Amino acid sequence: MSRQSLENDGRLALLYEVSLAFAARTELAELIPLVITKSREVLDAAGSSVMLLDENRNELYFPFVADSDPETASRLSGHRMPASQGLGGDVIRTGEPLRVSDASSDPRFDDAADRATGFKTGPMILAPLRSRQGIAGVLSAVRAMGAPDFSDDDLKMLVAMASGVSVTIENARLYEALRDREEGLRAEVGALRRDAARRDGFDEIVGSAPAMREVFSLMESAAGSPIAVLVEGETGTGKELVARGIHKASARASGAFVAVNCAALPESLLESELFGHRKGAFTGATQDRKGLFEAAAGGTIFLDEIGEMPLSMQPKLLRVLQENEIVPVGDTRPRPVDVRVISATNRDLEAEVESDRMRADLYYRLAGFPIQLPNLEERREDIPHFVAHFLDSAAAGHGRRIDGIEAEALQLFVDAQWPGNVRQLQNEVERSVALAREGDVIGLRHLSRRLTGAGAGAESSPSVRATDGPGHDLREARALFEARHIRSVLDALGGNVSRAAEALGLSRSMLQKKMKEYSLR
Ligand SMILES: Nc1ncnc2c1ncn2[C@@H]1O[C@H](COP(=O)(O)OP(=O)(O)OP(=O)(O)O)[C@@H](O)[C@H]1O
Ligand SMILES: [Mg+2]
Repeated sequence: MSRQSLENDGRLALLYEVSLAFAARTELAELIPLVITKSREVLDAAGSSVMLLDENRNELYFPFVADSDPETASRLSGHRMPASQGLGGDVIRTGEPLRVSDASSDPRFDDAADRATGFKTGPMILAPLRSRQGIAGVLSAVRAMGAPDFSDDDLKMLVAMASGVSVTIENARLYEALRDREEGLRAEVGALRRDAARRDGFDEIVGSAPAMREVFSLMESAAGSPIAVLVEGETGTGKELVARGIHKASARASGAFVAVNCAALPESLLESELFGHRKGAFTGATQDRKGLFEAAAGGTIFLDEIGEMPLSMQPKLLRVLQENEIVPVGDTRPRPVDVRVISATNRDLEAEVESDRMRADLYYRLAGFPIQLPNLEERREDIPHFVAHFLDSAAAGHGRRIDGIEAEALQLFVDAQWPGNVRQLQNEVERSVALAREGDVIGLRHLSRRLTGAGAGAESSPSVRATDGPGHDLREARALFEARHIRSVLDALGGNVSRAAEALGLSRSMLQKKMKEYSLR
């Protein structure tokens, strides 16, 4: 094989290699150095560079340089020169490739670059980089003074490389513009989604106190990420409401929100409730059943009262969080599940970890993003908002028009202690609406003794209370007493309906019916 055809083979191979690289890469910063390094080798040049036109300053600069001498390359990289001068300037102006055998003696030659690098340019070839907007720059290769000339084939080769580089530069610029646009759009969508979330998901959450604004902003962040959220707060502070709000504002909003009260399920049932079971796994398992994790697939599972999770269950839960898979009771094969986990507790979980009631590894998995809800005490300024909000909802629930609340009564709400937090306040408002009649303004007579501080006996017997409250109607008096009694039992038992039903000697469903009737929750 002749030397010429060997050389051609080498060049074809190079063109092939470079065109693959063009196809694969959109990052200018990766591609151009590859191209000029290769062309320098193939053209047997001392240096090869890309000059780009900075239209604002009408200057040529060297974003990419390959040189046998790294020192020269680095000097040239910082170099800029007027685009109207030099051989590069000529190519920019004419849009034609150029071959000179002794650049230094060419009248068009600008020796500023040589002076900057100390190199003495001899033979030089240049090819324009064309973009849709015009000539974007120049690809060039140089040999030292006294070295043999570049051939016509060398120039053709350079022109071919230049057209590839041009396309890449053009693509990279389009790509960058697209990416900028996309980032802009993404930010816009994020903001709009958060706005919508605030309107839809967070809207039912009352609160403008600083402590709550902080909570809203944490909720927004949590909604935008799949991270495991732990909502901490005393009873009645709105933990479940916050969990639902995050779900509704998240990308999983169209999926299910499945709430599991870890304290309400006996230990023996919890595992099969959460993970499901296979037929025959235990007595009574007459068929395969899916668990709550699978029911929440694509959505969110809310593990309420996570502090009550028995130690025996904790490794199994940890496994789900780590591996994203569950093993149904009576099965050995894990199944993948895609759920977002939000948990809530009114206990101090760190203390639970200290005292070995909760595994530390589980705690860290659950508490990826903790949100601490303030007590009602810490957001007293929101109390009038809460009262107005619950008056509206209770009135709507009873289908009864309520004409607001007397200032004196509202003041009692603001001043009271609320150990049961928002839930307790809500119960009080709902109770007052249950006792009010169509068109009433809520006043002291609708409030519980706990708020009015009325002396013992004033409310303790329905007959006495009946004279200063709801009138002489026996049914109303009985309802008043019943509502108050149920509420105090519920309060005492932390709102646990099953336990309250037991304490009251009622079935759970009967209690729920009465709670509905009196708007107690
Ligand atoms: N910021 C709020 N705006 C409107 N309603 C609220 C707010 N916070 C709580 N509530 C209402 O108070 C009641 C209790 O809220 P929630 O059930 O979310 O509390 P919790 O923290 O889960 O309590 P617990 O620990 O006792 O389960 C619910 O009826 C809820 O709608
Ligand atoms: Mg709750």
